[in-house]
Amino acid sequence: MLNIAGSYCRIGMKEKFVVGVTGGSGSILALTLLRNLDGYETHLVVSESAKKVLKEEVGASADDLIKLATYTYDDKDISARVSSGSFKFSAAVVIPCSISTLGKVASGISDTLVTRACAVALKERRKLIMVPREMPLSTIVLENMHKLSLAGAIIAPASPGYYTKPRTVEDMVNFIVSRVLDLMGIENNLIRRWRSGEQ
Ligand SMILES: Cc1cc2nc3c(=O)[nH]c(=O)nc-3n(C[C@H](O)[C@H](O)[C@H](O)COP(=O)(O)O)c2cc1C
Repeated sequence: MLNIAGSYCRIGMKEKFVVGVTGGSGSILALTLLRNLDGYETHLVVSESAKKVLKEEVGASADDLIKLATYTYDDKDISARVSSGSFKFSAAVVIPCSISTLGKVASGISDTLVTRACAVALKERRKLIMVPREMPLSTIVLENMHKLSLAGAIIAPASPGYYTKPRTVEDMVNFIVSRVLDLMGIENNLIRRWRSGEQ
């Protein structure tokens, strides 16, 4: 029966973000980002390689990420809700983004939940932020980044600025995560903003 008041449904007022964590170096970036997304609805997917890098780099497990997220899905579960264009989210962030995942998305391959969620963001013209960590970059990788940028993705390399005079790794991590939060449209004061002449 048609509801004369109109179909009006307000579900999930919290802003939703998809967070993909893949096997690039920089697991600490994912942990720091999720800690700063408290209060938002986060949909987390951690690749198998990311779990290895997490253990190697920070002695953490996927559970340490999972407990910071609202929802978590297996990277092999391509039927999870984030794989559908009907699941609305404000932005998808892949942090760190491996060169492998970046290459797959650039080539239209969606054989994991992370790559599928990225493909959905691109096709639905939603914000996709990819945070790769690699150096140097091959011509193939540069071409893939160029292709993704043309398709609407934001390539945000995990490279800190030095003008803020970072003293610790944490300062550098906060710089990168702060810039990612900016790109997601989230107010943050993780770093002191640049003002010429200030020490
Ligand atoms: C300790 C460690 C560090 C790695 N660092 C990087 C890296 O900085 N950038 C990168 O693109 N891949 C890196 N890799 C390789 C990726 O994990 C690998 O290409 C993997 O297949 C990516 O799979 P995924 O995209 O499904 O997570 C690293 C692997 C290990 C074990």
